[in-house]
Amino acid sequence: MIEEITHLLKKASIKAGIIDPFIKLEHPEDISHGDFSTNVAMVYTKVLKIAPKILAEKIVEEFNKDLPSTLSNATVAGPGFINIYVHNSAVTKNTTSVISLKENYGRSDIGGGKKIIVEYSSPNIAKPFTIGHLRSTIIGDAIANIYDFLGYKVIRDNHLGDWGTQFGKLLFAIDKWGDWDKIEKSDSPIKDLVALYVKFHDEALIDKSYEDQARNLFKILESGENSDITEKWRKCIELSKKEFSKIYDKLGVSFDTEFGESMFASPEKSNEILEILKSKNLLTTSENAQVVIFENEKYPPLIIQKSDGTTIYATRDLATDWYRKNTYGKDLMIVNEVGSEQTLYFRQLFEIERLLGWFEIGERIHVSHGLYRFKDGKMSTRKGNVIWLDDIIDEAEKRAVALNPESANDVAIGAIKFNDLKRDCAHDIVFDWDEIMNMTGDSGPYLQYACVRAEAVLDKAKEKGLKVDTSGTRPDIVSLDMLERYMMHFEEKLVFSANSFKPNILAGYLINLASFFNVFYAQTVIVDEKEEGTAYKLAVTQAFIYTMRNGLNLLGIKVPKRM
Ligand code: ARG
Repeated sequence: MIEEITHLLKKASIKAGIIDPFIKLEHPEDISHGDFSTNVAMVYTKVLKIAPKILAEKIVEEFNKDLPSTLSNATVAGPGFINIYVHNSAVTKNTTSVISLKENYGRSDIGGGKKIIVEYSSPNIAKPFTIGHLRSTIIGDAIANIYDFLGYKVIRDNHLGDWGTQFGKLLFAIDKWGDWDKIEKSDSPIKDLVALYVKFHDEALIDKSYEDQARNLFKILESGENSDITEKWRKCIELSKKEFSKIYDKLGVSFDTEFGESMFASPEKSNEILEILKSKNLLTTSENAQVVIFENEKYPPLIIQKSDGTTIYATRDLATDWYRKNTYGKDLMIVNEVGSEQTLYFRQLFEIERLLGWFEIGERIHVSHGLYRFKDGKMSTRKGNVIWLDDIIDEAEKRAVALNPESANDVAIGAIKFNDLKRDCAHDIVFDWDEIMNMTGDSGPYLQYACVRAEAVLDKAKEKGLKVDTSGTRPDIVSLDMLERYMMHFEEKLVFSANSFKPNILAGYLINLASFFNVFYAQTVIVDEKEEGTAYKLAVTQAFIYTMRNGLNLLGIKVPKRM
């Protein structure tokens, strides 16, 4: 609908004397001001030297001349805004289509099957899955879901951090202070491994030789020459993955591919990358290391191979994207959902890939997220003041059990996820339990509860044998009208959310949608056998449930039966 209105407004504006007008349509905050509005008259008032109100009136006059049946009229408001009203019959038509499309309401094929790798979660092996990784998992999963719903071919990739100097440190610590048998039998082996990793950093402050010894161990690991070391590394991965998968199960998240960094660390693969870079004259030797220096110091230099010949994060990322490009072919979009501390790094990486001609504009996206903050500041694995994700989930479940044991799992996970997704992911989050579990505020449970309530209304109506139907009288109720009109924005918000890689746009929409429903619910007797508008009210209630469920589903949030 938005394209059609834009087109018609453009035609009317040209007739009113504007040459090549740019039309920006918005939804007025206050629905009584129409379904769409534009300030086009105010923008072109200076150029045409006509008062904005007069120009707006001219445009509206032209616009109203060939109004499509979906619109009732356009009016001029305030200093020269043009407000456009959708005809009730078009609103009803939308509600009817929600009910028939059910879980497919909002689905489209605008993606045209374009391939998009959404890489997210990507925890590091033998380090805990902290609440920091949770952000990447939740945000990346939502982005992948939305793109899939919009007709893209989505490949979900978990880029595990299973390679790098930290393994030298870990293997050194296991050898020096660890008890391998105990680790293998432990209930949570990752926690044991992290404790050893933390110990390494404490002890390395005292004995300066540890760092070198660890580096050397990593070099041996990378050479693949010592099978005992390689075996221990493999075991660490196995133990970690087992624990990660428990968390993914709880979160209801899964992946298509789970290649680790190690898959892209072989000497052949890194040599291939070095050769490619060399052939494009992008490599410079600096203090025995191979680096890329950016023109005009656009970014600081990026190391590709260290002086001891070992690979580095960047080498492996280039090898990863090279593999992806060769495997999935052209027209491939890659989204990396990774914390904001890596923003500069991803700019450097993308700049190199751009210089190599690996992608077209818009095909490399770093979706960055801020930190979780607790009152005592940032958390770090090295210092050991880690917040464990499974502890957070347990705590949320405990709180949700207090509400209703039956729905505790869905409510706990929904609460944690929504607390994240309702905010612009670039920002930091201050963790606040009261906000997360709040049943009346902008929380997961609040949205789930709106749905559960609506379901209860339908159950009651069903018991009474009432019809759910849009073909009868459409009752003249302001709150119903507002809810129904707002449901028409769903698809548009999804597209906006996808294009800007911001699930919080969808989340914000759902918060408003729930509020519109709650007002309708509070102000109206929905189930009233004697009233002829009841079937229609039930239909809007049903459409609300589908819209809300679809939206929550895309955010990875389930709606329980009861709460
Ligand atoms: N494992 C990394 C970390 O937790 C994130 C990996 C991000 N993805 C990438 N292609 N570099 O810090």
